[in-house]
Amino acid sequence: MNDSIPLLIDTDPGVDDALALLMAFNSPRHHLLGLCITAGNVGLDHTVANALKLSEVAGIKVPVYPGCERPLVFAAEDASYVHGRDGFGDIDYEPAHFQAELEHAALAILRESHTHAGKLLLVTLGPLTNLALAVRLDPTLPSRIGRLVVMGGAVTGKGNTSIAAEFNIAFDPEAAAIVFESFPDIILVDWEAVLRHGFRHSTFEGWLAGGSPRADFYERISRKTRLWAEGKRGDHWHSADALAMMAALHPEYIIEKQRYFIHVETAGNQSRGATMVDWLERSGRPAQTEIVLKLDQARFETMIQDALGARA
Ligand code: RIB
Repeated sequence: MNDSIPLLIDTDPGVDDALALLMAFNSPRHHLLGLCITAGNVGLDHTVANALKLSEVAGIKVPVYPGCERPLVFAAEDASYVHGRDGFGDIDYEPAHFQAELEHAALAILRESHTHAGKLLLVTLGPLTNLALAVRLDPTLPSRIGRLVVMGGAVTGKGNTSIAAEFNIAFDPEAAAIVFESFPDIILVDWEAVLRHGFRHSTFEGWLAGGSPRADFYERISRKTRLWAEGKRGDHWHSADALAMMAALHPEYIIEKQRYFIHVETAGNQSRGATMVDWLERSGRPAQTEIVLKLDQARFETMIQDALGARA
């Protein structure tokens, strides 16, 4: 364990979160410290239950820390229309026998940041509520983070939950604003990058047919979401969190990235939740965000197959 990379994931499982978690479970060079859970795709009761169930199906015993059950300031709509009412395709699975921890996710983030100061790889796959709370509790947190990878945003305003905003940011814009104001070095995989790295539904269905318990479970929990996506976006499927997880686990697979200052907008009817990039560098503010533009698609698809046990 001593040369593996300590990894902590903040997540709101969610179907694409689940694929990202299977990729993380599969990584031989990372030591998964825990799963910090937030509300987002669906309510916290479901996101915690889903994290416990996925860990059990994958045969991975990892601490699950319940976090914030709502955004910092304003209530927000969930994404159950995408993921199912329970966030895992409403398949009515048998609840896991694993229990969640009593420690709050925000406190777990702070504790692990001290234990692994300077080395911790922190990946966020959902709204940034837990991380914002953690950095408000201890403003020195950013100094102890090795790498912070965030799935969220829409860098040229092509949102997926409003005209300009992507879901993770729009669910809690105040939290996202705190994070982008507090952390000097964020690696961002935004929604627009996700749309550039889709894969065919038919190909993915082939990977799901491999017969492993993970693949069988994932086929069931993702069926509703894949059908919805096929109707909405056509013959390619897009797994946002899986792409962000590849950037986190394998930064060497990032082909193109650019560094700019990003402002998270919390006001306005249509602008709330927008990730506004200072492309012309007018703000004079330090460029805190490495925007990931292109990743190795072939390796992405191989990582997904491996996570599903779909490759011999
Ligand atoms: O916009 C995509 C993001 O919103 C993903 O993290 C997905 O799980 C949803 O939470």
